[in-house]
Amino acid sequence: MEKQRSTRRTFLKSAVATGAGLIILPSGTLSGANATSNKLNIALIGSHGRAFQHYDSIDSENIVAICDVNEKNLDLAAARFPKAKKYIDWRKCLDDKGIDAVVCCTPDHTHAFIGNWAMNRDLHIYLEKPIAMSVEESRVLQATYQKKKHKLATQAGTQRHAYPNFSRVRELIKDGAIGELRHCYAWGRRQLRKPGYLPAAGSPPKTLDYDLWIGPSPMHPYNPGYFAGKPAANCLNWNMYWDFGTGQVGDMGAHTMDLVWNAIDADLPTSAVAKGEAFNPEVTPVELEATFKVPANDWRGEIGVTWCQGGMMPRSPKKHIDLTQIGHGAMFKGTKGYVIADFQSRVVLPFGDDADFGYYDRRSKEEMTPKAKHFQKEWIDACKGDLKTSCNFDYNGKMAEMMALGLVAYKAGKKLNYDGAKGQITNNAKANELLKRKYRKGWTLNG
Ligand SMILES: NC(=O)c1ccc[n+]([C@@H]2O[C@H](COP(=O)([O-])OP(=O)(O)OC[C@H]3O[C@@H](n4cnc5c(N)ncnc54)[C@H](O)[C@@H]3O)[C@@H](O)[C@H]2O)c1
Repeated sequence: MEKQRSTRRTFLKSAVATGAGLIILPSGTLSGANATSNKLNIALIGSHGRAFQHYDSIDSENIVAICDVNEKNLDLAAARFPKAKKYIDWRKCLDDKGIDAVVCCTPDHTHAFIGNWAMNRDLHIYLEKPIAMSVEESRVLQATYQKKKHKLATQAGTQRHAYPNFSRVRELIKDGAIGELRHCYAWGRRQLRKPGYLPAAGSPPKTLDYDLWIGPSPMHPYNPGYFAGKPAANCLNWNMYWDFGTGQVGDMGAHTMDLVWNAIDADLPTSAVAKGEAFNPEVTPVELEATFKVPANDWRGEIGVTWCQGGMMPRSPKKHIDLTQIGHGAMFKGTKGYVIADFQSRVVLPFGDDADFGYYDRRSKEEMTPKAKHFQKEWIDACKGDLKTSCNFDYNGKMAEMMALGLVAYKAGKKLNYDGAKGQITNNAKANELLKRKYRKGWTLNG
């Protein structure tokens, strides 16, 4: 079988070499404008909940495998994709030789594993946000992506990125609507307070492989409360516990900081400092404010970037502008004013009552950023074509690294200086230990 496959690959490679305008997908299938079948063979890992919202966008492709630790959810997915092979263990699923690409909608604590293992097997991947929970995880994803980006398309699941407002905000900032950029803020007001991990309560149903659900994280006793949420919102039942998520940093923070990240062409921060409520070793903070120094680039100087959550907020530039009315928002402060935005709207507030915007060189209609593609389709097309996506693991990986570093600064309780090239904190040796998560024996991130 393996021999047949490699013979087929060899044949396909020579077809490509002869200039047939075709590319070979990891499964050995031909793709490209001239291919007879131009479909991807996709494995859907974490097949219900958030995955349900991907069903329509991947329906145009061959869904060849579905994987879920919960057999009931697997059956729900099988009803939609009856031809797909069923898997319980994502490690076995990823070894299925018929796969080209993976859509992963599992809980956060498995994301970096599945993302990295998929890339290690030359599989394209769409990975739900947050793609990583720790600095180490985000750096491993970035490093593997750098090695494979000439042949793989990656997309982090921050689909709001395709809203036109993301481009409009970026244009305002880059074109100087608020002068020179000085500081950016993103915030989220969601509050999910929990005292600690749920107590042991009964045993897992036979239809749930609880040990695999825990996966690489340290073991915690079963409680049905972790599974009691509505589809696509069940993440709000586990993502605040340190071993399963990063709270609002990785939840809405992944979307809201993206509104800032998209506008600032940022590299890794050089420092991080954070404050919030008292540290709870079991639950991530509700109240948190993390501020980073982000180095200058070729169009702006060094800037500050602040993430606020759970009631902590940037100060409003005007008493009568109540920023708390924006549940998930962003604010950009420049030398000549502010831009305040949510996901789908923005306002510009120039300094001074006689500000005439004379300094602002607004771009023409022709120069506006073109409308973004449908976010999931962008990735599907990229897998078959130019591999270009708007939220690849370099762009989103660096943002995830910064956000994870904010939680390290919160735990350390001190300002941390960060060397992004080395991935090391330079002024606090102990805090370096917090850049990694602890995994259960037998689990490796780089499998
Ligand atoms: N992009 C968005 O707007 C958005 C919205 C909601 C959720 N999400 C993300 O989607 C992910 C899933 O959220 P959810 O609310 O659907 O969670 P969930 O708890 O419902 O889990 C999703 C599915 O994954 C399955 N699963 C759990 N562990 C698994 C494993 N190890 N292997 C295979 N399958 C596994 C579950 O049984 C379930 O069917 C989260 O990371 C969340 O951040 C993103």
